[in-house]
Amino acid sequence: MSTTYQLDTATSRANPTPAPVKRLTVPSLRARKGKEPIVALTAYTARMAQLLDPHCDLLLVGDSLGQVIYGLPSTVPVTLDTMIAHGAAVVRGSYRSVVAVDMPFGSYEASPSQAFASAARVLKETGAAAVKLEGGEAMAETVAFLSMRGIPVVGHVGLTPQAINALGSYRARGKGEAERAKVLSDAHAIAEAGAFLLVLEGVLELIAREITASVGCPTIGIGASAACDGQILVTEDMLGLFERTPRFVKKYGALAEVVKEAAKTYAEEVRTRSFPGEAQIYAS
Ligand code: KIV
Repeated sequence: MSTTYQLDTATSRANPTPAPVKRLTVPSLRARKGKEPIVALTAYTARMAQLLDPHCDLLLVGDSLGQVIYGLPSTVPVTLDTMIAHGAAVVRGSYRSVVAVDMPFGSYEASPSQAFASAARVLKETGAAAVKLEGGEAMAETVAFLSMRGIPVVGHVGLTPQAINALGSYRARGKGEAERAKVLSDAHAIAEAGAFLLVLEGVLELIAREITASVGCPTIGIGASAACDGQILVTEDMLGLFERTPRFVKKYGALAEVVKEAAKTYAEEVRTRSFPGEAQIYAS
């Protein structure tokens, strides 16, 4: 399925015209280990991808869209078809960043062949360059299987939200010696299996520092301190779309206030018939 379309831009908000820039590649991000920090954000839609793309190196179509867009209680119910639909939209809206798509819960854990079938669908049907999957040592064989067959993999260890039913909470990982050793061995297993990037989520700073210093691929932190080789946030968190966010989120905008204020003003103007005004009507 092609993700390239010719649209009538006179009637569509979508702008499919590629800007004259070359898209970054998986090897170019892999080569950033210990160098210029990798800037990553989540994106779920074409328009948001267009806005973020010039500023990012990596756009992740995260399965966090289950909570952020679909109002689900966790990422567990998110389906592969949903990830593919949003992945294709983000590829269409971006020209520079590497796009990686999350493999949702249940689409890869059963076996390396199940993971290959799901990941191949993601790459073929979205045009994305890479997939991300959660898990440590148990997923190392799968990461190696995909990597050796031309599917670049972003690993994800520490707090792994798809395992919420087993973990019981979204608290940071690495407290106590047993947890510290587990996060470290998970990170090493996934990096050695061939992941080209490794997301460290909700990991104590000392552990993130130790992992970053000891694995060969760049680490991307979310709630894992500035010691990592790059950072990622959920875009809607960083834009301030939600009142409640985790401690590690810094709000760079106040989108919830902007939306509430705009909706309030619009409602008032509709009710008082001051919208539409002269500028918005077709008089002749
Ligand atoms: O699903 C997601 O958005 C993620 C990032 C937060 C790393 O996995």
